[in-house]
Amino acid sequence: MENKKSLATGVLHGTHDKFSFGALTPPIVQSATFVFDSSEQGAARFAGAEDGYIYTRIGNPTTTVLENKMAYLENGEACLAFGSGMGAISSTLVSLLSNGDHLVADTTLYGCTLTLMTEHLTRFGIEVQFVDMTDLNQLKAALKDNTKVVYFETPANPTMKVIDIEAVSKIAHEAVPGCKVVVDNTFCSPMITRPLEHGADVVVHSATKYLNGHGDVIAGICVSDADTIAKIKVAGLKDITGSVLDPFAAYLILRGLKTLKLRMDAHSKNAMEVAKFLEGSEFVKAVYYPGLECHSGHEVAKKQMSQFSGVLSFEVKSYEHAVKIMNNVKLCTLAVSLGDCETLIQHPASMTHSGYTKEELEAAGFSETLIRLSVGLEDPADIIADLDAAMRL
Ligand SMILES: Cc1ncc(COP(=O)(O)O)c(C=O)c1O
Repeated sequence: MENKKSLATGVLHGTHDKFSFGALTPPIVQSATFVFDSSEQGAARFAGAEDGYIYTRIGNPTTTVLENKMAYLENGEACLAFGSGMGAISSTLVSLLSNGDHLVADTTLYGCTLTLMTEHLTRFGIEVQFVDMTDLNQLKAALKDNTKVVYFETPANPTMKVIDIEAVSKIAHEAVPGCKVVVDNTFCSPMITRPLEHGADVVVHSATKYLNGHGDVIAGICVSDADTIAKIKVAGLKDITGSVLDPFAAYLILRGLKTLKLRMDAHSKNAMEVAKFLEGSEFVKAVYYPGLECHSGHEVAKKQMSQFSGVLSFEVKSYEHAVKIMNNVKLCTLAVSLGDCETLIQHPASMTHSGYTKEELEAAGFSETLIRLSVGLEDPADIIADLDAAMRL
């Protein structure tokens, strides 16, 4: 494996791509299907006896460039791209789990991931159990012989709870050999954390967020060892969800990736400044940002994150004030999603996490006074001035 320390260089040159016509950027192969030279060749491709493209749901040259780049960046053997983050997550879980299996997940998850587990996987006879994975004893107590997947986000959406990837992976693998530890790395991107290097088995992403970074694509990524990716490709992607990425979207993500290192540096620097401002504000009850020393996960974050990324959340004193702030901001944009160049502000309890029940909100550790902010690439002084003015109005 090449030295992964210089990912700023690796993201541009690490996969040594060469394109037809000597093109610098990957050609967009906007074709649904691929022509066979003969019937025998078509049969050989379907049988796996000959390499080559067949049909874009099963593989596409532009998407392959993205998949190779993401496998490189996450330090995994192979990667699959999907039509959304939820496509990546659902395809992965339905490939790794069957009727009668047990899934252990953290209590704090993106809203649709939670409802996928509570309302849908359970319909197929999969037993789902939630624990607070910052308490490793809860994890140990939950693991059983039929636990096939341990799943978490770090930092988790929206409370920025940090989970120790190495500790969770070690406990899960010792207790249940063969169990897959799946980490949603959306909030970090591989520029900040590479979960496979800390012992996880599978990494998933909403590539809609930092990987693309420009708010114009919905996409997902899954990276793992070659056998696991082959299984997810044949079952989850090809036959079950069909959640394939469009080649033009793959091209846009490849373009976004070129500046991933620069963007993650700037998002992290700006978020730290905004977090410090919020920490000192008389209107704010609590700030959740792993870069702050007061954050409960700060020490674990320092161990597994090279910087602290661009998302933070904060509690204000009342729901009414939270609504007022979100209605009064002028620069920060009231919209869900994150990881874009623009600063986005939103209200998890009524928006991204509105699928949570009251009990699930309590277990996840946030309420209707929580605001989530994805700090963008504007001048941080302008973001701070906008928030300050909105809080005072
Ligand atoms: C942590 C996390 N994982 C997964 C998803 C789902 O991704 P997508 O919206 O691309 O389907 C999101 C979306 O907000 C997310 O925040």
